[in-house]
Amino acid sequence: MILFKKVSDLKKFVEAQRLMGKSIGFSPTMGALHSGHMALLHTSQAQCDISIVSIFVNPTQFNDPEDLKKYPRTEGNDLAMLDKEGCDVVFMPGVDDIYPKNLPETPKLDLEGLDKVMEGAFRPGHFDGVVQVVKRLLDIVAPDKLYMGQKDFQQFTIINFMIEQYKLPVELVVVPIVREDSGLAKSSRNVRLSEAAKQKATSIFQQLSGLRAALEKFSPKEVETKFLKALEIAGLEPEYLCIVNGKTLQPVSDFSKESYVVACTAAWIEGVRLIDNMILKQ
Ligand code: PAF
Repeated sequence: MILFKKVSDLKKFVEAQRLMGKSIGFSPTMGALHSGHMALLHTSQAQCDISIVSIFVNPTQFNDPEDLKKYPRTEGNDLAMLDKEGCDVVFMPGVDDIYPKNLPETPKLDLEGLDKVMEGAFRPGHFDGVVQVVKRLLDIVAPDKLYMGQKDFQQFTIINFMIEQYKLPVELVVVPIVREDSGLAKSSRNVRLSEAAKQKATSIFQQLSGLRAALEKFSPKEVETKFLKALEIAGLEPEYLCIVNGKTLQPVSDFSKESYVVACTAAWIEGVRLIDNMILKQ
Protein backbone atom coordinates (compact mmCIF):
# COMPACT_ATOMS: atom_id res chain seq x y z
CA MET A 1 0.00 0.00 0.00
CA ILE A 2 1.32 3.43 -0.92
CA LEU A 3 0.65 6.41 1.32
CA PHE A 4 0.57 9.86 -0.27
CA LYS A 5 0.34 13.06 1.73
CA LYS A 6 1.06 15.55 -1.04
CA VAL A 7 -1.43 16.43 -3.76
CA SER A 8 1.28 16.59 -6.44
CA ASP A 9 2.62 13.10 -5.58
CA LEU A 10 -0.81 11.54 -5.74
CA LYS A 11 -1.60 13.29 -9.04
CA LYS A 12 1.65 12.00 -10.58
CA PHE A 13 0.81 8.47 -9.48
CA VAL A 14 -2.72 8.64 -10.89
CA GLU A 15 -1.49 10.06 -14.21
CA ALA A 16 1.00 7.18 -14.55
CA GLN A 17 -1.76 4.63 -13.84
CA ARG A 18 -4.01 6.25 -16.44
CA LEU A 19 -1.26 6.04 -19.07
CA MET A 20 -1.14 2.30 -18.36
CA GLY A 21 -4.90 2.14 -18.99
CA LYS A 22 -5.84 1.42 -15.36
CA SER A 23 -9.22 2.38 -13.97
CA ILE A 24 -9.36 4.27 -10.67
CA GLY A 25 -11.87 3.79 -7.84
CA PHE A 26 -12.00 6.37 -5.05
CA SER A 27 -13.56 6.22 -1.58
CA PRO A 28 -13.37 9.45 0.43
CA THR A 29 -13.43 9.03 4.23
CA MET A 30 -12.75 10.97 7.39
CA GLY A 31 -10.94 8.01 8.98
CA ALA A 32 -12.06 6.15 12.12
CA LEU A 33 -12.59 3.33 9.67
CA HIS A 34 -14.92 0.40 10.23
CA SER A 35 -16.44 -2.34 8.13
CA GLY A 36 -18.81 0.16 6.48
CA HIS A 37 -15.78 1.86 4.93
CA MET A 38 -14.27 -1.50 4.04
CA ALA A 39 -17.44 -2.24 2.04
CA LEU A 40 -16.66 0.86 -0.06
CA LEU A 41 -13.11 -0.38 -0.61
CA HIS A 42 -14.21 -3.92 -1.46
CA THR A 43 -16.74 -2.67 -4.00
CA SER A 44 -14.06 -0.46 -5.53
CA GLN A 45 -11.61 -3.38 -5.66
CA ALA A 46 -14.20 -5.53 -7.43
CA GLN A 47 -14.86 -2.86 -10.07
CA CYS A 48 -11.56 -0.98 -10.60
CA ASP A 49 -7.87 -1.72 -11.18
CA ILE A 50 -6.61 0.74 -8.57
CA SER A 51 -8.45 1.61 -5.35
CA ILE A 52 -7.67 4.85 -3.55
CA VAL A 53 -9.01 5.76 -0.10
CA SER A 54 -8.62 9.25 1.32
CA ILE A 55 -8.53 10.07 5.02
CA PHE A 56 -9.22 13.73 5.69
CA VAL A 57 -11.25 15.17 8.56
CA ASN A 58 -12.76 18.06 6.68
CA PRO A 59 -13.15 21.07 9.00
CA THR A 60 -15.53 22.94 6.66
CA GLN A 61 -18.35 20.41 7.10
CA PHE A 62 -18.49 20.61 10.91
CA ASN A 63 -21.03 23.21 11.98
CA ASP A 64 -20.29 22.34 15.61
CA PRO A 65 -16.63 22.92 16.62
CA GLU A 66 -17.09 20.50 19.55
CA ASP A 67 -18.05 17.73 17.12
CA LEU A 68 -14.88 18.41 15.10
CA LYS A 69 -12.76 18.30 18.26
CA LYS A 70 -14.36 15.05 19.40
CA TYR A 71 -14.22 13.37 15.99
CA PRO A 72 -12.31 10.11 16.52
CA ARG A 73 -8.84 10.03 14.98
CA THR A 74 -7.44 6.52 14.73
CA GLU A 75 -4.79 6.90 12.06
CA GLY A 76 -2.60 3.89 12.94
CA ASN A 77 -5.56 1.58 13.10
CA ASP A 78 -7.00 2.99 9.85
CA LEU A 79 -3.78 2.41 7.92
CA ALA A 80 -3.38 -1.12 9.29
CA MET A 81 -6.95 -1.94 8.32
CA LEU A 82 -6.57 -0.62 4.77
CA ASP A 83 -3.26 -2.40 4.32
CA LYS A 84 -4.77 -5.68 5.51
CA GLU A 85 -7.64 -5.31 3.05
CA GLY A 86 -5.24 -4.79 0.14
CA CYS A 87 -5.97 -1.12 -0.51
CA ASP A 88 -3.59 0.20 -3.20
CA VAL A 89 -3.28 3.83 -2.17
CA VAL A 90 -4.13 5.97 0.86
CA PHE A 91 -4.28 9.71 0.42
CA MET A 92 -3.87 11.60 3.69
CA PRO A 93 -3.57 15.30 2.94
CA GLY A 94 -3.35 18.10 5.50
CA VAL A 95 -5.79 21.01 5.70
CA ASP A 96 -3.33 23.28 3.85
CA ASP A 97 -3.05 20.80 0.97
CA ILE A 98 -6.79 20.65 0.48
CA TYR A 99 -7.40 24.35 1.06
CA PRO A 100 -4.19 26.13 0.06
CA LYS A 101 -4.27 29.93 0.26
CA ASN A 102 -3.75 30.31 -3.51
CA LEU A 103 -6.63 28.01 -4.53
CA PRO A 104 -9.09 29.97 -6.70
CA GLU A 105 -12.42 30.17 -4.93
CA THR A 106 -15.23 28.23 -6.59
CA PRO A 107 -18.64 29.83 -6.27
CA LYS A 108 -20.96 27.98 -3.91
CA LEU A 109 -23.22 25.54 -5.78
CA ASP A 110 -26.95 26.15 -5.32
CA LEU A 111 -28.17 22.81 -3.99
CA GLU A 112 -31.76 23.76 -4.82
CA GLY A 113 -33.09 23.00 -1.35
CA LEU A 114 -31.60 19.48 -1.09
CA ASP A 115 -29.42 20.88 1.70
CA LYS A 116 -32.25 22.55 3.61
CA VAL A 117 -34.12 19.45 4.82
CA MET A 118 -33.25 16.66 7.29
CA GLU A 119 -29.52 16.85 8.15
CA GLY A 120 -29.31 20.25 6.50
CA ALA A 121 -32.02 21.68 8.74
CA PHE A 122 -30.09 20.62 11.85
CA ARG A 123 -26.57 21.22 10.55
CA PRO A 124 -26.55 24.53 8.65
CA GLY A 125 -23.67 24.79 6.20
CA HIS A 126 -22.73 21.11 6.58
CA PHE A 127 -23.48 20.13 2.98
CA ASP A 128 -21.72 23.18 1.53
CA GLY A 129 -18.61 21.84 3.28
CA VAL A 130 -19.18 18.30 2.01
CA VAL A 131 -19.69 19.51 -1.58
CA GLN A 132 -16.60 21.71 -1.32
CA VAL A 133 -14.32 18.90 -0.12
CA VAL A 134 -15.67 16.16 -2.41
CA LYS A 135 -15.34 18.47 -5.44
CA ARG A 136 -11.77 19.30 -4.44
CA LEU A 137 -10.92 15.63 -3.86
CA LEU A 138 -12.45 14.66 -7.20
CA ASP A 139 -10.41 17.37 -8.94
CA ILE A 140 -7.26 15.94 -7.36
CA VAL A 141 -7.90 12.20 -7.68
CA ALA A 142 -9.90 12.28 -10.95
CA PRO A 143 -11.32 8.77 -10.45
CA ASP A 144 -13.52 6.78 -12.83
CA LYS A 145 -15.79 5.74 -9.98
CA LEU A 146 -16.62 7.36 -6.65
CA TYR A 147 -17.82 5.14 -3.77
CA MET A 148 -20.10 6.49 -1.07
CA GLY A 149 -22.21 4.81 1.61
CA GLN A 150 -26.00 4.68 1.65
CA LYS A 151 -25.92 5.48 5.35
CA ASP A 152 -25.43 9.14 4.49
CA PHE A 153 -28.41 9.11 2.15
CA GLN A 154 -28.74 12.87 1.85
CA GLN A 155 -24.99 13.21 1.32
CA PHE A 156 -24.83 10.94 -1.70
CA THR A 157 -28.03 12.44 -3.12
CA ILE A 158 -26.39 15.87 -2.94
CA ILE A 159 -23.08 14.61 -4.36
CA ASN A 160 -25.01 13.00 -7.21
CA PHE A 161 -26.70 16.36 -7.85
CA MET A 162 -23.30 18.10 -7.79
CA ILE A 163 -21.85 15.60 -10.30
CA GLU A 164 -24.81 16.26 -12.62
CA GLN A 165 -24.58 20.05 -12.22
CA TYR A 166 -20.84 20.21 -12.93
CA LYS A 167 -21.09 17.38 -15.50
CA LEU A 168 -18.14 15.64 -13.84
CA PRO A 169 -16.80 12.56 -15.65
CA VAL A 170 -17.21 10.22 -12.68
CA GLU A 171 -19.73 7.53 -11.82
CA LEU A 172 -21.14 7.57 -8.29
CA VAL A 173 -21.59 4.09 -6.82
CA VAL A 174 -23.72 3.84 -3.69
CA VAL A 175 -22.80 1.01 -1.32
CA PRO A 176 -25.54 -0.39 0.99
CA ILE A 177 -25.48 0.22 4.76
CA VAL A 178 -23.39 -2.21 6.81
CA ARG A 179 -24.96 -3.08 10.18
CA GLU A 180 -23.90 -4.75 13.40
CA ASP A 181 -25.64 -8.09 14.08
CA SER A 182 -27.97 -6.07 16.32
CA GLY A 183 -29.06 -3.95 13.36
CA LEU A 184 -27.23 -0.80 14.51
CA ALA A 185 -25.74 0.93 11.46
CA LYS A 186 -21.93 0.98 11.55
CA SER A 187 -20.64 4.46 12.28
CA SER A 188 -17.40 6.04 13.41
CA ARG A 189 -19.43 7.58 16.23
CA ASN A 190 -20.48 4.19 17.69
CA VAL A 191 -17.17 3.92 19.58
CA ARG A 192 -18.37 6.74 21.82
CA LEU A 193 -21.40 4.72 22.98
CA SER A 194 -21.63 2.54 26.10
CA GLU A 195 -22.88 -1.02 25.64
CA ALA A 196 -26.24 0.00 27.13
CA ALA A 197 -26.59 2.88 24.68
CA LYS A 198 -25.69 0.61 21.76
CA GLN A 199 -28.44 -1.73 22.87
CA LYS A 200 -30.98 1.11 23.07
CA ALA A 201 -29.86 2.42 19.69
CA THR A 202 -30.89 -0.85 18.01
CA SER A 203 -34.46 0.44 18.28
CA ILE A 204 -33.65 2.76 15.35
CA PHE A 205 -33.26 -0.19 12.98
CA GLN A 206 -36.20 -2.04 14.54
CA GLN A 207 -38.49 0.94 14.06
CA LEU A 208 -37.23 1.58 10.52
CA SER A 209 -37.95 -2.06 9.68
CA GLY A 210 -41.62 -1.66 10.66
CA LEU A 211 -42.26 1.44 8.56
CA ARG A 212 -43.28 -0.22 5.31
CA ALA A 213 -46.09 -2.14 7.01
CA ALA A 214 -47.14 0.93 9.02
CA LEU A 215 -47.43 3.00 5.84
CA GLU A 216 -50.01 0.55 4.50
CA LYS A 217 -52.31 1.62 7.35
CA PHE A 218 -51.35 5.15 8.38
CA SER A 219 -50.37 8.42 6.69
CA PRO A 220 -46.64 9.33 6.57
CA LYS A 221 -47.29 12.10 9.14
CA GLU A 222 -48.92 9.64 11.58
CA VAL A 223 -46.14 7.13 11.03
CA GLU A 224 -43.51 9.78 11.72
CA THR A 225 -45.17 10.69 15.03
CA LYS A 226 -45.40 7.05 16.14
CA PHE A 227 -41.76 6.42 15.19
CA LEU A 228 -40.46 9.37 17.20
CA LYS A 229 -42.52 8.32 20.22
CA ALA A 230 -41.16 4.76 20.01
CA LEU A 231 -37.56 6.02 19.96
CA GLU A 232 -38.24 8.22 22.99
CA ILE A 233 -39.67 5.26 24.87
CA ALA A 234 -36.53 3.27 23.97
CA GLY A 235 -34.41 5.97 25.64
CA LEU A 236 -33.24 8.01 22.66
CA GLU A 237 -33.74 11.66 21.84
CA PRO A 238 -34.97 11.59 18.26
CA GLU A 239 -34.41 14.64 16.07
CA TYR A 240 -36.46 13.71 13.05
CA LEU A 241 -37.92 10.99 10.90
CA CYS A 242 -38.55 12.13 7.33
CA ILE A 243 -40.32 9.94 4.82
CA VAL A 244 -39.22 11.49 1.56
CA ASN A 245 -38.88 11.03 -2.17
CA GLY A 246 -35.40 9.55 -2.67
CA LYS A 247 -34.44 12.01 -5.41
CA THR A 248 -35.96 15.32 -4.35
CA LEU A 249 -35.83 14.64 -0.58
CA GLN A 250 -39.25 16.27 -0.31
CA PRO A 251 -41.81 14.77 2.09
CA VAL A 252 -44.11 12.10 0.71
CA SER A 253 -47.80 12.69 1.36
CA ASP A 254 -49.22 9.55 -0.26
CA PHE A 255 -46.95 6.49 0.08
CA SER A 256 -48.94 4.43 -2.44
CA LYS A 257 -48.43 7.01 -5.23
CA GLU A 258 -44.64 7.40 -4.95
CA SER A 259 -42.12 5.14 -6.69
CA TYR A 260 -38.91 5.97 -4.76
CA VAL A 261 -39.34 6.44 -1.01
CA VAL A 262 -36.76 6.53 1.76
CA ALA A 263 -37.12 7.07 5.50
CA CYS A 264 -34.25 9.02 7.07
CA THR A 265 -33.77 9.57 10.78
CA ALA A 266 -31.42 11.12 13.31
CA ALA A 267 -31.41 10.56 17.07
CA TRP A 268 -29.18 11.37 20.02
CA ILE A 269 -27.98 9.09 22.76
CA GLU A 270 -25.23 9.78 25.32
CA GLY A 271 -24.42 13.01 23.50
CA VAL A 272 -23.79 11.12 20.23
CA ARG A 273 -25.83 11.86 17.15
CA LEU A 274 -26.72 8.79 15.10
CA ILE A 275 -28.26 8.74 11.64
CA ASP A 276 -29.83 5.89 9.71
CA ASN A 277 -32.20 5.31 6.84
CA MET A 278 -34.11 2.66 4.96
CA ILE A 279 -35.23 2.62 1.34
CA LEU A 280 -38.90 1.68 1.52
CA LYS A 281 -39.65 1.63 -2.18
CA GLN A 282 -37.52 1.87 -5.34
O1 PAF B 1 -18.97 10.76 4.72
C1 PAF B 1 -17.90 11.25 5.09
O2 PAF B 1 -17.10 10.66 5.79
C2 PAF B 1 -17.55 12.67 4.64
O3 PAF B 1 -18.66 13.49 4.62
C3 PAF B 1 -16.82 12.72 3.29
C4 PAF B 1 -17.68 12.23 2.14
C5 PAF B 1 -15.56 11.89 3.36
C6 PAF B 1 -16.41 14.18 2.97
O4 PAF B 1 -15.60 14.69 3.95
